[in-house]
Amino acid sequence: MSVRIAPSVLSADLGRLREQLDQVVEGGADWIHVDVMDGRFVPNLTFGAPVIRALRALTDLPLDVHLMVVEPERYIEEYADAGVDLFTFHVEATTHAQRHLAAVRERGMRPGLALNPSTSLAAVEELVEDLDLLLVMSVNPGFGGQRYWPGSSRKLARARDLLASRGSAAVLEVDGGITLDTIAEAWRAGADTFVAGTAVFGTPDPAEAVRGLRARCAVAV
Ligand code: DX5
Ligand code: ZN
Repeated sequence: MSVRIAPSVLSADLGRLREQLDQVVEGGADWIHVDVMDGRFVPNLTFGAPVIRALRALTDLPLDVHLMVVEPERYIEEYADAGVDLFTFHVEATTHAQRHLAAVRERGMRPGLALNPSTSLAAVEELVEDLDLLLVMSVNPGFGGQRYWPGSSRKLARARDLLASRGSAAVLEVDGGITLDTIAEAWRAGADTFVAGTAVFGTPDPAEAVRGLRARCAVAV
């Protein structure tokens, strides 16, 4: 399994976005993670379609958009038009997740579902075949710079078993508190894609930070 690193622009210096993107590209970043927050599903408020369009114009890397919003289905059309590649929403934020996953795929994006720490994997068990990505949150979403919730590793291992038992090739992503100290544990537990905000953009050398995170997985096999 290959390791994917997805730096989160939530922690980037938005005044130097182009330079910050260039730095993570130089470090070998695989995806750009974009945290959309609406001040309702989570307390914080971040970006929407205008910033996503700006990012699209600045990079060829896949845009991995994580919607922490209520009624995420309201954004499917607009985000498809903005050039989003992966559209991941929270299973807690909507009633008809299956229908919306299908609509995301229909619009040419790859659909993903995210789970808060307190949400059981049972919430997505019926939908595994509809998913291209499963996102296990390792913090309660809303802010960067929080600590990795230790129960995440056990949950990632069970998520990996769930995907394998259904023959699913879905990406297993982990988000929150991923650092040089926690990434190897999450990788060993079964995650293949790692979101990192503070651990990349909170350092003086984001390119080196991306390389360092990947290297921790290489030695942890
Ligand atoms: C948290 C967001 C994360 C955040 C991670 O609600 O979903 O993507 O950017 O930040 P760090 O890596 O600093 O925990
Ligand atoms: Zn995120």
